[in-house]
Amino acid sequence: MAIERTLSIVKPDAVRKNHIGGVLAKLEGAGLTIIGAKLIKLSQEQAGAFYGVHRERSFFQELVDFMTSGPIMVQVLEGENAILRNREVMGATDPAKAEAGTIRAEYGADIGENAVHGSDAPDTARTEIAFFFAESELQSR
Ligand code: CDP
Ligand code: MG
Repeated sequence: MAIERTLSIVKPDAVRKNHIGGVLAKLEGAGLTIIGAKLIKLSQEQAGAFYGVHRERSFFQELVDFMTSGPIMVQVLEGENAILRNREVMGATDPAKAEAGTIRAEYGADIGENAVHGSDAPDTARTEIAFFFAESELQSR
């Protein structure tokens, strides 16, 4: 199996509810290593650019408004099969459909306010990591 890196975000809903620690504990518990992290607040422009792939979707503006509604915690995760592993521990996009024990089942409210983001493939992981982090801010180990 390959060692991969992926981008993870604790979204504003989970930050507001003081669940940063709970989310990060589940990520680390899944065997993922945090190699970079920061607490930031996105502008509308940044959130729109980050979710540009969804620009034509009906929920786009709602998503941008939500993602700019408060601080987010962004982190880079590293580990074997990290991209898929992170998606597994996140659970389904709709928390009501997420498997028990997953982050979204535990901390998500609905399909919009679903606690976390995670890259979905190697190319998006690379782009999304570079969106937030310089290589010098990552401590591989
Ligand atoms: O986050 P994930 O990759 O699981 O799902 P997505 O299909 O890439 O959608 C990105 C984000 O848009 C979701 O995590 C939700 O926050 C939001 N969304 C929404 O508000 N309403 C939908 N019907 C679908 C997604
Ligand atoms: Mg996605």
